[in-house]
Amino acid sequence: MKFSLVQLGCIALSATASVVSPREQALNGTEGLLSCLSTRKLPFLVPSSAAWASHTTTYNARLQYRPAAVLVATTTQQISDGVVCAAQNGIPVQAKSGGHSYASFSAGGRDGILVVDLGNLNDITVDNSTGIAVVGAGVRIGNLALGIYEQGSRALAHGTCPGVGVGGHFTHGGFGYSSRAFGLAMDQIVALDVVLANGSFIRANERSHPEVYWALRGAADSFGIVTTFHLQTSLAPSRVVQWEFSFPRALASVSAAVRAFRGVQDFALSATVDRNLGLGVNIADNAASFVVHGTYLGSIAAFNATIVPALLASVPFAPDPKASSMQEVGWIASLTRLGGLSTLAVPLTGYDARDNFFAKSVTTSKPFSEAALRRFFAFILDKGVGNDAPVGWFSIMDLYGGPGSALGTRNESFAAYRGYQDLWVVQNYGFVGVDRTFPKAGLDFMSGLNDALASETPGHGAYLNYIDPSYPREEALRVYYGEKTHARLKALKEILDPGNVFSNPQSI
Ligand SMILES: Cc1cc2nc3c(=O)[nH]c(=O)nc-3n(C[C@H](O)[C@H](O)[C@H](O)COP(=O)(O)OP(=O)(O)OC[C@H]3O[C@@H](n4cnc5c(N)ncnc54)[C@H](O)[C@@H]3O)c2cc1C
Ligand SMILES: *[C@@H]1O[C@H](CO)[C@@H](O)[C@H](O)[C@H]1NC(C)=O
Ligand SMILES: *[C@@H]1O[C@H](CO)[C@@H](O)[C@H](O)[C@H]1NC(C)=O
Ligand SMILES: *[C@@H]1O[C@H](CO)[C@@H](O)[C@H](O)[C@H]1NC(C)=O
Ligand SMILES: *[C@@H]1O[C@H](CO)[C@@H](O)[C@H](O)[C@H]1NC(C)=O
Ligand SMILES: *[C@@H]1O[C@H](CO)[C@@H](O)[C@H](O)[C@H]1NC(C)=O
Repeated sequence: MKFSLVQLGCIALSATASVVSPREQALNGTEGLLSCLSTRKLPFLVPSSAAWASHTTTYNARLQYRPAAVLVATTTQQISDGVVCAAQNGIPVQAKSGGHSYASFSAGGRDGILVVDLGNLNDITVDNSTGIAVVGAGVRIGNLALGIYEQGSRALAHGTCPGVGVGGHFTHGGFGYSSRAFGLAMDQIVALDVVLANGSFIRANERSHPEVYWALRGAADSFGIVTTFHLQTSLAPSRVVQWEFSFPRALASVSAAVRAFRGVQDFALSATVDRNLGLGVNIADNAASFVVHGTYLGSIAAFNATIVPALLASVPFAPDPKASSMQEVGWIASLTRLGGLSTLAVPLTGYDARDNFFAKSVTTSKPFSEAALRRFFAFILDKGVGNDAPVGWFSIMDLYGGPGSALGTRNESFAAYRGYQDLWVVQNYGFVGVDRTFPKAGLDFMSGLNDALASETPGHGAYLNYIDPSYPREEALRVYYGEKTHARLKALKEILDPGNVFSNPQSI
Protein backbone atom coordinates (compact mmCIF):
# COMPACT_ATOMS: atom_id res chain seq x y z
CA MET A 1 0.00 0.00 0.00
CA LYS A 2 1.42 3.34 -0.94
CA PHE A 3 -0.43 5.84 1.27
CA SER A 4 1.40 6.82 4.40
CA LEU A 5 -1.35 7.94 6.74
CA VAL A 6 -4.14 5.43 6.55
CA GLN A 7 -7.35 4.76 8.29
CA LEU A 8 -6.87 1.04 8.17
CA GLY A 9 -9.01 0.69 11.24
CA CYS A 10 -11.98 1.02 8.84
CA ILE A 11 -10.89 -2.22 7.24
CA ALA A 12 -10.39 -3.93 10.56
CA LEU A 13 -13.78 -2.69 11.72
CA SER A 14 -15.76 -3.78 8.70
CA ALA A 15 -14.04 -7.19 8.69
CA THR A 16 -14.95 -7.67 12.32
CA ALA A 17 -18.47 -6.43 11.84
CA SER A 18 -19.14 -8.83 9.00
CA VAL A 19 -18.22 -11.82 11.17
CA VAL A 20 -19.72 -10.92 14.51
CA SER A 21 -21.44 -7.79 15.68
CA PRO A 22 -19.62 -5.76 18.35
CA ARG A 23 -22.69 -6.07 20.52
CA GLU A 24 -22.32 -9.83 20.59
CA GLN A 25 -18.56 -9.95 21.12
CA ALA A 26 -16.68 -7.02 22.58
CA LEU A 27 -13.75 -5.88 20.51
CA ASN A 28 -10.39 -6.50 22.15
CA GLY A 29 -8.39 -3.41 23.14
CA THR A 30 -6.42 -3.04 19.92
CA GLU A 31 -9.45 -3.61 17.70
CA GLY A 32 -11.50 -1.19 19.77
CA LEU A 33 -8.74 1.40 19.58
CA LEU A 34 -8.44 1.14 15.79
CA SER A 35 -12.18 1.26 15.41
CA CYS A 36 -12.41 4.39 17.55
CA LEU A 37 -9.52 6.12 15.75
CA SER A 38 -11.24 5.38 12.43
CA THR A 39 -14.65 6.54 13.55
CA ARG A 40 -13.14 9.83 14.66
CA LYS A 41 -11.25 10.11 11.35
CA LEU A 42 -7.88 10.49 13.00
CA PRO A 43 -4.59 10.22 11.07
CA PHE A 44 -2.95 7.04 12.32
CA LEU A 45 -0.57 4.30 11.24
CA VAL A 46 -0.84 0.55 11.72
CA PRO A 47 1.87 -2.07 11.09
CA SER A 48 0.90 -2.47 7.42
CA SER A 49 1.24 1.28 6.73
CA ALA A 50 4.11 2.33 4.48
CA ALA A 51 5.37 4.85 7.03
CA TRP A 52 5.18 2.40 9.96
CA ALA A 53 8.90 1.59 10.15
CA SER A 54 10.02 5.22 9.94
CA HIS A 55 7.65 6.15 12.78
CA THR A 56 8.31 3.20 15.06
CA THR A 57 11.99 2.35 14.61
CA THR A 58 13.50 3.29 17.95
CA TYR A 59 16.60 5.46 18.48
CA ASN A 60 17.92 2.80 20.85
CA ALA A 61 18.23 -0.21 18.56
CA ARG A 62 18.61 -2.48 21.61
CA LEU A 63 14.99 -1.88 22.63
CA GLN A 64 12.50 -2.19 19.77
CA TYR A 65 8.78 -2.46 20.52
CA ARG A 66 5.63 -2.88 18.45
CA PRO A 67 2.91 -0.31 19.21
CA ALA A 68 -0.76 -1.01 18.47
CA ALA A 69 -0.96 2.21 16.43
CA VAL A 70 0.74 5.56 15.95
CA LEU A 71 -1.37 8.71 15.90
CA VAL A 72 0.45 11.25 13.72
CA ALA A 73 -1.27 14.31 15.11
CA THR A 74 -1.41 17.80 13.68
CA THR A 75 -3.98 19.32 16.05
CA THR A 76 -4.75 19.33 19.74
CA GLN A 77 -8.23 17.98 19.04
CA GLN A 78 -6.75 14.92 17.35
CA ILE A 79 -4.51 14.27 20.35
CA SER A 80 -7.43 14.64 22.71
CA ASP A 81 -9.58 12.30 20.60
CA GLY A 82 -6.76 9.75 20.39
CA VAL A 83 -6.23 9.78 24.16
CA VAL A 84 -9.97 9.23 24.71
CA CYS A 85 -10.01 6.32 22.23
CA ALA A 86 -7.06 4.69 24.00
CA ALA A 87 -8.52 5.27 27.45
CA GLN A 88 -11.87 3.75 26.45
CA ASN A 89 -10.13 0.62 25.23
CA GLY A 90 -7.58 0.20 28.00
CA ILE A 91 -4.63 0.93 25.74
CA PRO A 92 -1.69 2.81 27.33
CA VAL A 93 -0.49 6.03 25.68
CA GLN A 94 2.95 7.61 25.35
CA ALA A 95 3.95 10.74 23.48
CA LYS A 96 6.83 10.71 21.05
CA SER A 97 8.77 13.90 20.50
CA GLY A 98 12.41 13.38 19.43
CA GLY A 99 12.23 9.64 20.17
CA HIS A 100 15.57 9.61 22.04
CA SER A 101 14.29 7.84 25.17
CA TYR A 102 17.08 5.57 26.44
CA ALA A 103 14.40 2.98 27.27
CA SER A 104 12.35 3.48 24.07
CA PHE A 105 9.41 4.58 26.23
CA SER A 106 8.15 6.77 23.39
CA ALA A 107 7.55 3.49 21.56
CA GLY A 108 5.94 2.08 24.72
CA GLY A 109 8.75 0.29 26.51
CA ARG A 110 6.55 -2.75 25.78
CA ASP A 111 4.28 -3.80 22.91
CA GLY A 112 0.74 -2.71 22.20
CA ILE A 113 0.46 0.98 23.13
CA LEU A 114 -0.84 4.02 21.28
CA VAL A 115 2.06 6.30 20.33
CA VAL A 116 1.13 9.95 19.86
CA ASP A 117 3.74 11.22 17.42
CA LEU A 118 4.28 14.96 17.82
CA GLY A 119 6.68 15.38 14.90
CA ASN A 120 4.28 17.71 13.06
CA LEU A 121 4.18 20.23 15.93
CA ASN A 122 7.16 22.30 14.84
CA ASP A 123 6.30 25.97 15.38
CA ILE A 124 8.78 28.26 17.14
CA THR A 125 7.71 31.86 17.85
CA VAL A 126 9.46 34.29 20.18
CA ASP A 127 7.55 37.19 21.72
CA ASN A 128 10.07 40.02 21.55
CA SER A 129 8.57 41.93 24.44
CA THR A 130 8.63 39.08 26.99
CA GLY A 131 11.33 36.83 25.53
CA ILE A 132 8.93 33.90 25.87
CA ALA A 133 9.22 31.32 23.10
CA VAL A 134 6.12 29.34 22.14
CA VAL A 135 7.41 25.99 20.94
CA GLY A 136 5.62 22.98 19.46
CA ALA A 137 6.26 19.74 21.34
CA GLY A 138 7.79 18.04 18.31
CA VAL A 139 10.67 20.50 17.90
CA ARG A 140 14.20 19.09 18.16
CA ILE A 141 16.64 21.09 20.28
CA GLY A 142 19.02 21.93 17.40
CA ASN A 143 16.19 23.57 15.48
CA LEU A 144 14.99 25.19 18.72
CA ALA A 145 18.38 26.84 19.32
CA LEU A 146 18.54 28.13 15.75
CA GLY A 147 14.91 29.27 15.69
CA ILE A 148 15.06 31.37 18.84
CA TYR A 149 18.47 32.80 17.98
CA GLU A 150 17.15 33.97 14.61
CA GLN A 151 14.25 35.71 16.40
CA GLY A 152 16.13 38.24 18.47
CA SER A 153 19.37 36.46 19.56
CA ARG A 154 17.61 34.44 22.24
CA ALA A 155 19.00 31.38 24.01
CA LEU A 156 17.85 28.51 26.23
CA ALA A 157 19.82 26.05 28.32
CA HIS A 158 19.47 22.47 26.99
CA GLY A 159 21.50 19.41 26.08
CA THR A 160 24.00 19.01 23.30
CA CYS A 161 22.60 16.54 20.77
CA PRO A 162 20.59 18.43 18.08
CA GLY A 163 18.25 15.48 17.40
CA VAL A 164 16.89 15.27 20.95
CA GLY A 165 13.25 16.41 21.17
CA VAL A 166 11.90 19.09 23.51
CA GLY A 167 9.05 16.77 24.57
CA GLY A 168 11.14 14.34 26.59
CA HIS A 169 14.15 16.55 27.27
CA PHE A 170 12.29 19.59 28.68
CA THR A 171 9.97 17.50 30.86
CA HIS A 172 12.58 15.31 32.59
CA GLY A 173 15.34 17.79 33.49
CA GLY A 174 17.54 18.72 30.57
CA PHE A 175 21.14 19.68 31.25
CA GLY A 176 23.58 21.61 29.09
CA TYR A 177 26.82 23.43 29.79
CA SER A 178 24.92 26.69 30.28
CA SER A 179 22.61 25.12 32.90
CA ARG A 180 24.68 26.33 35.83
CA ALA A 181 23.82 29.83 34.61
CA PHE A 182 20.30 29.41 33.20
CA GLY A 183 18.96 26.31 34.96
CA LEU A 184 17.79 22.98 33.61
CA ALA A 185 15.90 23.05 30.33
CA MET A 186 12.79 22.35 32.43
CA ASP A 187 13.31 25.35 34.70
CA GLN A 188 12.69 27.70 31.76
CA ILE A 189 9.13 26.41 31.25
CA VAL A 190 6.67 29.15 32.26
CA ALA A 191 3.55 27.39 30.96
CA LEU A 192 2.52 24.14 29.30
CA ASP A 193 -0.42 23.40 27.03
CA VAL A 194 -1.37 19.83 27.81
CA VAL A 195 -3.91 17.11 27.00
CA LEU A 196 -4.88 15.21 30.15
CA ALA A 197 -6.05 11.62 30.56
CA ASN A 198 -9.75 12.53 30.26
CA GLY A 199 -9.05 14.31 26.98
CA SER A 200 -9.38 17.81 28.38
CA PHE A 201 -6.94 20.45 27.15
CA ILE A 202 -5.56 23.00 29.58
CA ARG A 203 -2.81 25.56 30.04
CA ALA A 204 -0.88 24.91 33.23
CA ASN A 205 1.37 27.44 34.91
CA GLU A 206 2.20 28.73 38.39
CA ARG A 207 -1.32 30.11 38.91
CA SER A 208 -3.57 27.95 36.75
CA HIS A 209 -3.51 24.17 37.42
CA PRO A 210 -0.32 24.55 39.49
CA GLU A 211 -0.32 20.84 40.41
CA VAL A 212 -0.29 19.85 36.72
CA TYR A 213 2.46 22.41 36.08
CA TRP A 214 4.49 20.89 38.93
CA ALA A 215 3.98 17.23 37.94
CA LEU A 216 4.58 17.68 34.22
CA ARG A 217 8.02 19.11 34.95
CA GLY A 218 9.67 15.83 35.92
CA ALA A 219 6.96 13.25 35.22
CA ALA A 220 5.18 14.25 32.01
CA ASP A 221 5.27 10.67 30.70
CA SER A 222 2.88 9.69 33.55
CA PHE A 223 0.49 12.65 33.38
CA GLY A 224 -0.32 13.97 29.92
CA ILE A 225 0.80 15.08 26.53
CA VAL A 226 2.34 18.50 26.27
CA THR A 227 1.44 20.03 22.92
CA THR A 228 3.09 23.45 23.33
CA PHE A 229 5.86 24.72 25.59
CA HIS A 230 6.08 28.34 26.74
CA LEU A 231 9.75 28.90 27.48
CA GLN A 232 11.46 31.89 29.06
CA THR A 233 14.50 32.55 26.89
CA SER A 234 17.57 34.61 27.80
CA LEU A 235 19.61 36.93 25.65
CA ALA A 236 22.27 34.72 24.05
CA PRO A 237 25.73 35.25 25.53
CA SER A 238 27.81 37.12 22.97
CA ARG A 239 30.98 35.19 23.80
CA VAL A 240 31.46 31.60 24.88
CA VAL A 241 34.78 29.94 25.66
CA GLN A 242 34.95 26.37 24.47
CA TRP A 243 37.65 24.66 26.50
CA GLU A 244 39.25 21.28 27.05
CA PHE A 245 42.18 19.92 29.06
CA SER A 246 43.38 16.35 28.64
CA PHE A 247 45.26 14.67 31.49
CA PRO A 248 46.64 11.40 30.06
CA ARG A 249 48.73 10.65 33.13
CA ALA A 250 45.63 10.66 35.30
CA LEU A 251 44.80 7.12 34.25
CA ALA A 252 48.26 5.70 34.92
CA SER A 253 47.03 4.15 38.18
CA VAL A 254 43.98 4.05 40.44
CA SER A 255 45.56 6.46 42.91
CA ALA A 256 46.51 8.88 40.12
CA ALA A 257 42.94 8.86 38.80
CA VAL A 258 41.50 9.42 42.26
CA ARG A 259 43.88 12.32 42.87
CA ALA A 260 43.06 13.83 39.47
CA PHE A 261 39.29 13.66 40.02
CA ARG A 262 39.62 14.98 43.55
CA GLY A 263 41.63 17.87 42.14
CA VAL A 264 38.81 18.69 39.74
CA GLN A 265 36.24 18.28 42.52
CA ASP A 266 38.13 20.53 44.96
CA PHE A 267 38.37 23.14 42.21
CA ALA A 268 34.66 22.76 41.40
CA LEU A 269 33.80 23.55 45.02
CA SER A 270 36.17 26.51 45.28
CA ALA A 271 35.17 30.18 45.29
CA THR A 272 36.79 30.72 41.86
CA VAL A 273 33.91 28.88 40.22
CA ASP A 274 30.92 30.96 39.18
CA ARG A 275 27.64 30.32 37.35
CA ASN A 276 29.23 30.91 33.94
CA LEU A 277 31.33 27.77 34.11
CA GLY A 278 30.07 24.55 32.52
CA LEU A 279 32.26 21.54 33.30
CA GLY A 280 32.33 17.82 32.70
CA VAL A 281 34.93 15.09 33.15
CA ASN A 282 34.91 12.58 30.29
CA ILE A 283 36.49 9.18 30.62
CA ALA A 284 36.59 6.97 27.55
CA ASP A 285 37.72 3.41 27.08
CA ASN A 286 40.28 2.69 24.41
CA ALA A 287 42.40 5.81 24.62
CA ALA A 288 42.16 5.67 28.39
CA SER A 289 41.52 9.39 28.24
CA PHE A 290 40.67 11.68 31.13
CA VAL A 291 39.41 14.96 29.72
CA VAL A 292 38.02 17.94 31.61
CA HIS A 293 36.04 20.18 29.31
CA GLY A 294 33.11 22.54 28.97
CA THR A 295 32.19 26.12 28.27
CA TYR A 296 32.54 29.48 29.94
CA LEU A 297 29.98 32.20 29.29
CA GLY A 298 32.37 35.13 29.05
CA SER A 299 35.60 36.29 27.48
CA ILE A 300 38.63 34.13 27.01
CA ALA A 301 40.68 36.74 28.85
CA ALA A 302 38.52 36.40 31.98
CA PHE A 303 38.49 32.62 31.71
CA ASN A 304 42.24 32.37 31.21
CA ALA A 305 42.99 34.78 34.04
CA THR A 306 40.89 33.16 36.76
CA ILE A 307 39.44 29.73 35.99
CA VAL A 308 42.39 28.14 34.18
CA PRO A 309 45.07 28.83 36.81
CA ALA A 310 42.79 27.61 39.61
CA LEU A 311 41.88 24.40 37.76
CA LEU A 312 45.46 23.60 36.77
CA ALA A 313 46.74 24.30 40.27
CA SER A 314 44.20 21.87 41.70
CA VAL A 315 44.84 18.90 39.41
CA PRO A 316 48.20 17.29 40.26
CA PHE A 317 49.16 16.56 36.63
CA ALA A 318 50.07 18.75 33.70
CA PRO A 319 47.64 18.72 30.79
CA ASP A 320 48.80 17.43 27.42
CA PRO A 321 49.15 20.66 25.41
CA LYS A 322 48.45 18.86 22.13
CA ALA A 323 45.07 17.64 23.38
CA SER A 324 44.08 20.80 25.23
CA SER A 325 42.54 23.93 23.83
CA MET A 326 40.44 27.00 24.49
CA GLN A 327 38.71 29.17 21.97
CA GLU A 328 36.27 32.06 22.13
CA VAL A 329 33.28 31.62 19.80
CA GLY A 330 29.71 32.90 19.46
CA TRP A 331 26.66 31.20 20.99
CA ILE A 332 25.53 29.25 17.94
CA ALA A 333 29.09 28.22 17.07
CA SER A 334 29.48 26.95 20.62
CA LEU A 335 26.30 24.85 20.46
CA THR A 336 27.30 23.54 17.04
CA ARG A 337 30.67 22.40 18.34
CA LEU A 338 29.09 20.73 21.37
CA GLY A 339 26.64 18.95 19.07
CA GLY A 340 29.53 17.47 17.17
CA LEU A 341 27.92 17.91 13.74
CA SER A 342 28.45 20.56 11.07
CA THR A 343 25.07 22.15 11.79
CA LEU A 344 22.41 22.35 14.47
CA ALA A 345 19.65 22.09 11.85
CA VAL A 346 17.81 18.77 11.81
CA PRO A 347 15.52 17.84 8.87
CA LEU A 348 11.84 17.87 9.88
CA THR A 349 11.24 14.44 8.37
CA GLY A 350 13.35 11.35 7.80
CA TYR A 351 15.48 11.62 10.95
CA ASP A 352 17.00 8.16 11.35
CA ALA A 353 19.96 8.41 13.74
CA ARG A 354 20.27 5.36 15.98
CA ASP A 355 22.53 3.79 18.56
CA ASN A 356 22.57 0.40 20.25
CA PHE A 357 23.21 1.06 23.91
CA PHE A 358 22.64 0.61 27.62
CA ALA A 359 23.28 3.49 30.00
CA LYS A 360 23.03 4.01 33.73
CA SER A 361 23.56 7.02 35.94
CA VAL A 362 24.57 8.08 39.43
CA THR A 363 23.58 11.42 40.92
CA THR A 364 24.89 12.78 44.20
CA SER A 365 24.39 15.94 46.18
CA LYS A 366 27.64 15.38 48.08
CA PRO A 367 31.21 15.29 46.79
CA PHE A 368 32.32 11.81 45.71
CA SER A 369 34.22 10.11 48.50
CA GLU A 370 37.74 8.74 48.19
CA ALA A 371 36.26 5.23 48.55
CA ALA A 372 33.73 5.74 45.74
CA LEU A 373 36.34 7.14 43.39
CA ARG A 374 38.79 4.36 44.23
CA ARG A 375 36.25 1.63 43.43
CA PHE A 376 35.13 3.37 40.27
CA PHE A 377 38.62 3.87 38.83
CA ALA A 378 39.75 0.42 40.02
CA PHE A 379 36.88 -1.07 38.01
CA ILE A 380 37.81 1.02 34.97
CA LEU A 381 41.52 0.22 35.06
CA ASP A 382 40.89 -3.45 35.86
CA LYS A 383 38.11 -4.21 33.37
CA GLY A 384 37.52 -1.25 31.09
CA VAL A 385 40.75 -0.38 29.29
CA GLY A 386 41.35 -1.04 25.61
CA ASN A 387 39.84 -4.26 24.34
CA ASP A 388 39.18 -5.69 27.80
CA ALA A 389 35.65 -4.30 27.97
CA PRO A 390 32.91 -6.33 26.24
CA VAL A 391 31.36 -3.16 24.73
CA GLY A 392 32.50 0.35 23.88
CA TRP A 393 31.80 2.70 26.76
CA PHE A 394 32.30 6.17 28.19
CA SER A 395 31.54 8.01 31.40
CA ILE A 396 30.53 11.66 31.56
CA MET A 397 30.71 13.23 35.01
CA ASP A 398 28.88 16.55 34.71
CA LEU A 399 29.05 19.30 37.30
CA TYR A 400 25.50 20.42 38.12
CA GLY A 401 26.12 22.12 41.46
CA GLY A 402 28.96 24.07 43.06
CA PRO A 403 29.25 27.80 43.76
CA GLY A 404 26.83 30.00 41.82
CA SER A 405 24.88 27.19 40.16
CA ALA A 406 21.32 28.20 39.29
CA LEU A 407 20.20 24.64 40.09
CA GLY A 408 21.01 24.90 43.79
CA THR A 409 18.62 27.84 44.19
CA ARG A 410 15.64 25.50 43.65
CA ASN A 411 14.22 22.43 45.34
CA GLU A 412 11.50 19.83 44.75
CA SER A 413 8.72 22.24 45.68
CA PHE A 414 9.49 24.00 42.36
CA ALA A 415 9.12 20.93 40.11
CA ALA A 416 8.85 17.13 40.38
CA TYR A 417 12.61 16.76 40.29
CA ARG A 418 14.71 15.55 43.19
CA GLY A 419 18.09 16.63 41.81
CA TYR A 420 18.25 20.38 42.37
CA GLN A 421 20.89 19.88 45.05
CA ASP A 422 22.96 17.51 42.93
CA LEU A 423 26.66 18.26 42.72
CA TRP A 424 27.50 15.61 40.10
CA VAL A 425 25.46 13.64 37.57
CA VAL A 426 27.41 10.77 36.08
CA GLN A 427 26.35 8.90 32.98
CA ASN A 428 27.88 5.49 32.22
CA TYR A 429 27.09 4.60 28.61
CA GLY A 430 27.90 1.33 26.81
CA PHE A 431 27.38 0.74 23.08
CA VAL A 432 27.85 -1.68 20.18
CA GLY A 433 27.14 -1.36 16.45
CA VAL A 434 23.45 -1.06 15.54
CA ASP A 435 23.53 -4.36 13.66
CA ARG A 436 24.96 -6.31 16.57
CA THR A 437 23.25 -7.89 19.54
CA PHE A 438 24.16 -6.04 22.72
CA PRO A 439 25.87 -8.78 24.75
CA LYS A 440 24.83 -9.86 28.24
CA ALA A 441 28.45 -9.32 29.28
CA GLY A 442 28.04 -5.70 28.22
CA LEU A 443 24.97 -5.25 30.42
CA ASP A 444 26.90 -6.75 33.33
CA PHE A 445 29.93 -4.59 32.61
CA MET A 446 27.88 -1.38 32.61
CA SER A 447 26.08 -2.39 35.81
CA GLY A 448 29.41 -3.19 37.42
CA LEU A 449 30.86 0.15 36.39
CA ASN A 450 27.84 2.05 37.70
CA ASP A 451 27.65 0.02 40.92
CA ALA A 452 31.32 0.69 41.64
CA LEU A 453 30.46 4.37 42.03
CA ALA A 454 26.89 4.03 43.35
CA SER A 455 27.60 1.45 46.04
CA GLU A 456 29.97 3.84 47.85
CA THR A 457 27.65 6.85 47.36
CA PRO A 458 24.91 6.74 50.01
CA GLY A 459 21.69 8.52 49.06
CA HIS A 460 22.55 8.56 45.38
CA GLY A 461 19.86 8.94 42.74
CA ALA A 462 19.56 8.45 38.98
CA TYR A 463 18.88 11.02 36.27
CA LEU A 464 15.43 10.96 34.64
CA ASN A 465 16.67 11.81 31.17
CA TYR A 466 19.06 8.84 31.23
CA ILE A 467 16.12 6.58 31.94
CA ASP A 468 17.39 3.12 32.91
CA PRO A 469 15.03 0.27 31.99
CA SER A 470 16.92 -2.26 34.12
CA TYR A 471 15.34 -0.93 37.33
CA PRO A 472 12.09 -2.52 38.55
CA ARG A 473 9.37 0.16 38.77
CA GLU A 474 9.44 0.85 42.52
CA GLU A 475 13.22 1.08 42.63
CA ALA A 476 13.22 3.29 39.53
CA LEU A 477 10.74 5.69 41.10
CA ARG A 478 12.78 5.84 44.30
CA VAL A 479 16.07 6.65 42.58
CA TYR A 480 14.53 9.09 40.12
CA TYR A 481 12.22 11.02 42.45
CA GLY A 482 13.07 10.24 46.07
CA GLU A 483 10.33 9.39 48.57
CA LYS A 484 8.76 12.80 49.08
CA THR A 485 8.29 13.70 45.43
CA HIS A 486 7.24 10.15 44.56
CA ALA A 487 4.51 10.24 47.19
CA ARG A 488 3.21 13.60 45.95
CA LEU A 489 3.21 12.34 42.35
CA LYS A 490 1.34 9.17 43.33
CA ALA A 491 -1.40 11.20 45.00
CA LEU A 492 -1.73 13.43 41.93
CA LYS A 493 -1.84 10.42 39.63
CA GLU A 494 -4.97 9.19 41.46
CA ILE A 495 -6.67 12.47 40.62
CA LEU A 496 -5.33 13.28 37.15
CA ASP A 497 -5.01 9.81 35.61
CA PRO A 498 -6.86 7.27 37.74
CA GLY A 499 -7.18 4.89 34.79
CA ASN A 500 -3.40 4.87 34.24
CA VAL A 501 -3.69 5.97 30.61
CA PHE A 502 -0.21 7.49 30.46
CA SER A 503 1.99 4.60 31.40
CA ASN A 504 5.22 2.81 30.65
CA PRO A 505 7.16 0.15 32.62
CA GLN A 506 8.46 2.77 35.07
CA SER A 507 5.63 5.32 35.19
CA ILE A 508 3.94 6.57 38.36
C1 LIG B 1 22.54 11.49 21.60
C2 LIG B 1 21.90 11.93 22.89
C3 LIG B 1 22.41 13.02 23.57
C4 LIG B 1 21.82 13.46 24.75
N1 LIG B 1 22.37 14.54 25.41
C5 LIG B 1 21.78 14.98 26.55
C6 LIG B 1 22.30 16.11 27.24
O1 LIG B 1 23.26 16.75 26.81
N2 LIG B 1 21.68 16.50 28.39
C7 LIG B 1 20.59 15.84 28.88
O2 LIG B 1 20.06 16.26 29.90
N3 LIG B 1 20.10 14.75 28.26
C8 LIG B 1 20.67 14.31 27.11
N4 LIG B 1 20.16 13.20 26.49
C9 LIG B 1 19.01 12.51 27.06
C10 LIG B 1 17.71 13.15 26.59
O3 LIG B 1 17.49 14.34 27.31
C11 LIG B 1 16.51 12.20 26.82
O4 LIG B 1 16.70 11.01 26.11
C12 LIG B 1 15.18 12.88 26.45
O5 LIG B 1 14.13 12.38 27.26
C13 LIG B 1 14.83 12.69 24.98
O6 LIG B 1 13.74 13.46 24.63
P1 LIG B 1 12.95 13.08 23.28
O7 LIG B 1 11.78 13.96 23.18
O8 LIG B 1 13.92 13.03 22.15
O9 LIG B 1 12.53 11.60 23.61
P2 LIG B 1 11.18 10.75 23.47
O10 LIG B 1 11.65 9.35 23.35
O11 LIG B 1 10.30 11.27 22.40
O12 LIG B 1 10.47 10.98 24.88
C14 LIG B 1 11.06 10.56 26.10
C15 LIG B 1 9.96 10.37 27.16
O13 LIG B 1 9.25 11.59 27.33
C16 LIG B 1 7.87 11.42 26.99
N5 LIG B 1 7.44 12.58 26.21
C17 LIG B 1 7.96 13.03 25.05
N6 LIG B 1 7.30 14.11 24.62
C18 LIG B 1 6.32 14.35 25.52
C19 LIG B 1 5.29 15.32 25.62
N7 LIG B 1 5.16 16.25 24.69
N8 LIG B 1 4.44 15.25 26.66
C20 LIG B 1 4.59 14.29 27.59
N9 LIG B 1 5.54 13.35 27.57
C21 LIG B 1 6.41 13.38 26.54
C22 LIG B 1 7.82 10.16 26.15
O14 LIG B 1 6.55 9.55 26.22
C23 LIG B 1 8.92 9.33 26.77
O15 LIG B 1 8.45 8.69 27.93
C24 LIG B 1 20.72 12.76 25.29
C25 LIG B 1 20.22 11.67 24.60
C26 LIG B 1 20.79 11.24 23.43
C27 LIG B 1 20.23 10.04 22.74
C1 LIG C 1 -6.72 -8.16 19.30
O1 LIG C 1 -6.98 -7.81 17.96
C2 LIG C 1 -5.84 -7.59 17.16
C3 LIG C 1 -6.32 -7.06 15.80
O2 LIG C 1 -7.31 -7.91 15.27
C4 LIG C 1 -5.04 -8.86 17.07
O3 LIG C 1 -3.87 -8.65 16.29
C5 LIG C 1 -4.62 -9.27 18.48
O4 LIG C 1 -3.92 -10.47 18.45
C6 LIG C 1 -5.84 -9.39 19.38
N1 LIG C 1 -5.35 -9.58 20.75
C7 LIG C 1 -5.93 -10.43 21.58
C8 LIG C 1 -5.34 -10.46 22.95
O5 LIG C 1 -6.88 -11.14 21.28
C1 LIG D 1 11.81 40.02 16.96
O1 LIG D 1 13.06 40.66 16.74
C2 LIG D 1 13.83 40.10 15.70
C3 LIG D 1 15.18 40.80 15.60
O2 LIG D 1 15.38 41.68 16.63
C4 LIG D 1 13.07 40.18 14.39
O3 LIG D 1 13.81 39.56 13.37
C5 LIG D 1 11.73 39.50 14.54
O4 LIG D 1 10.98 39.64 13.37
C6 LIG D 1 10.96 40.05 15.72
N1 LIG D 1 9.76 39.24 15.89
C7 LIG D 1 8.56 39.74 16.08
C8 LIG D 1 7.45 38.76 16.22
O5 LIG D 1 8.35 40.94 16.12
C1 LIG E 1 46.41 32.17 28.80
O1 LIG E 1 47.30 32.59 29.81
C2 LIG E 1 48.60 32.05 29.66
C3 LIG E 1 49.43 32.38 30.91
O2 LIG E 1 49.19 33.69 31.32
C4 LIG E 1 49.23 32.61 28.39
O3 LIG E 1 50.51 32.08 28.21
C5 LIG E 1 48.33 32.17 27.23
O4 LIG E 1 48.81 32.75 26.03
C6 LIG E 1 46.90 32.61 27.44
N1 LIG E 1 46.07 32.01 26.42
C7 LIG E 1 45.09 32.65 25.81
C8 LIG E 1 44.38 31.89 24.75
O5 LIG E 1 44.80 33.79 26.07
C1 LIG F 1 12.22 25.07 48.86
O1 LIG F 1 12.05 26.27 48.11
C2 LIG F 1 10.98 27.06 48.59
C3 LIG F 1 10.80 28.20 47.60
O2 LIG F 1 12.00 28.81 47.29
C4 LIG F 1 11.28 27.53 50.01
O3 LIG F 1 10.22 28.32 50.49
C5 LIG F 1 11.47 26.30 50.89
O4 LIG F 1 11.85 26.71 52.17
C6 LIG F 1 12.51 25.37 50.32
N1 LIG F 1 12.50 24.13 51.07
C7 LIG F 1 13.61 23.56 51.52
C8 LIG F 1 13.44 22.28 52.25
O5 LIG F 1 14.70 24.07 51.36
C1 LIG G 1 -10.51 16.39 33.31
O1 LIG G 1 -9.58 16.33 34.35
C2 LIG G 1 -9.20 17.60 34.87
C3 LIG G 1 -8.12 17.38 35.89
O2 LIG G 1 -8.53 16.48 36.88
C4 LIG G 1 -10.43 18.31 35.43
O3 LIG G 1 -10.03 19.61 35.89
C5 LIG G 1 -11.47 18.43 34.36
O4 LIG G 1 -12.66 18.97 34.91
C6 LIG G 1 -11.80 17.08 33.74
N1 LIG G 1 -12.67 17.28 32.61
C7 LIG G 1 -13.73 16.54 32.40
C8 LIG G 1 -14.52 16.87 31.18
O5 LIG G 1 -14.03 15.64 33.16
